[in-house]
Amino acid sequence: MTPKDIPQDAATSHEFDAYRRLDLEVIEAKGCHLVTGTGRRLLDLYGGHAAALLGHSHPRLVAALTAQADRLFFQTNLVKLPVRERAARALADFAPAGLDRVFFVNSGAEANENALRLAFRHTRRHTVIALTGSFHGRTAAAAACTDGSEAWYGFPAWPFSVRHLPWNNAALLEDAVTDDVAAVIVEPIQGIAGARAIPVEVLQAARRACDARSALLIADEVQCGMGRSGRAFAIEEAQVTPDVLTVAKGLAGGFPAGAVIARHEVAATIRPGDLGSTFGGGPLAAALIAEVIAVVRDEDLVARADRLGRLIRERCLVGPVESIQGRGLLVGLRLDRPASDVAAQLRERDILVGTSSDPRVIRLMPPLVLQDEHVEQLAQALQEISSS
Ligand SMILES: Cc1ncc(COP(=O)(O)O)c(C=O)c1O
Repeated sequence: MTPKDIPQDAATSHEFDAYRRLDLEVIEAKGCHLVTGTGRRLLDLYGGHAAALLGHSHPRLVAALTAQADRLFFQTNLVKLPVRERAARALADFAPAGLDRVFFVNSGAEANENALRLAFRHTRRHTVIALTGSFHGRTAAAAACTDGSEAWYGFPAWPFSVRHLPWNNAALLEDAVTDDVAAVIVEPIQGIAGARAIPVEVLQAARRACDARSALLIADEVQCGMGRSGRAFAIEEAQVTPDVLTVAKGLAGGFPAGAVIARHEVAATIRPGDLGSTFGGGPLAAALIAEVIAVVRDEDLVARADRLGRLIRERCLVGPVESIQGRGLLVGLRLDRPASDVAAQLRERDILVGTSSDPRVIRLMPPLVLQDEHVEQLAQALQEISSS
């Protein structure tokens, strides 16, 4: 580490004090492990906030990134790029059948912001329905749909009308979709709420109600998508196809990228000039998106997420864990004590996990390249915690 790289504490840092930071200084990461400045090696079950889909520095991503950087580092969206078209085709092929038009952006919030704009333009209506426990991002429209965002929203006014309905009540949701509703936006597995899967009946009711009222169903798969749930997209569990699907986080394996994927009739609402982004779909992100999808297919990582998720459910119902929720490798461990205490004890045992908005739930969103032995390591550590 050079002197310039030495992290500073909050009192002397030049960064905003926007994050409650852990006492961990990460200088390197490979596969499922992080290495700190003091030489500690931690098992990363937080997965860089679910972005490190293929683990850290996957050799194929490093190769794709460096080759693309060498050939074409950046270009404007005003020109055609074969690499961008390749990424769009790969993503449309990976997405549920019927979702075949892609608009590239840089983050999850931006993807949701544009999905909502698309819904308003398509339906010419002004109301959105979202669910309790949802998180859709921190930009104005995405935050307006996020449950509880009043605490940090920060803008002087709400941009449109949003109704939050209970996450688990199909009948209430179906009744709430009236003729003024532009869209229902839903995370099929709510990440920040603690890997809470929305019941299949609720997703099916949302689809029926949107069909009946010509509203759009937006699936926010920023956290649960790209194979993490043990299916390519989590909403497939309900055999429901949304009109619009948003992705980010693991989409480019940790490189900033997001996308709105839509049915072509919905995408046809958009004319040149309606949407835009300087960096969205840039060559580096595009090369990585295409390679992430290729690796997910070649290494059979969707099936792996499903199998490892089942193994976690079999092996980790131990120690302070009372029940396990979520699907695939988006897992919530419900505890008999505060999640922050258990997360700290796991960190002492060199395992990094996430917490959630539920104070009793620990969240796991590890790389999909996780190994069986890592699950055993977690199970062992949980056992030790209960007897310590
Ligand atoms: C489900 C979901 N949607 C949207 C977002 C926002 O993504 P970003 O932080 O890339 O803007 C997140 C981030 O955690 C998320 O979990």
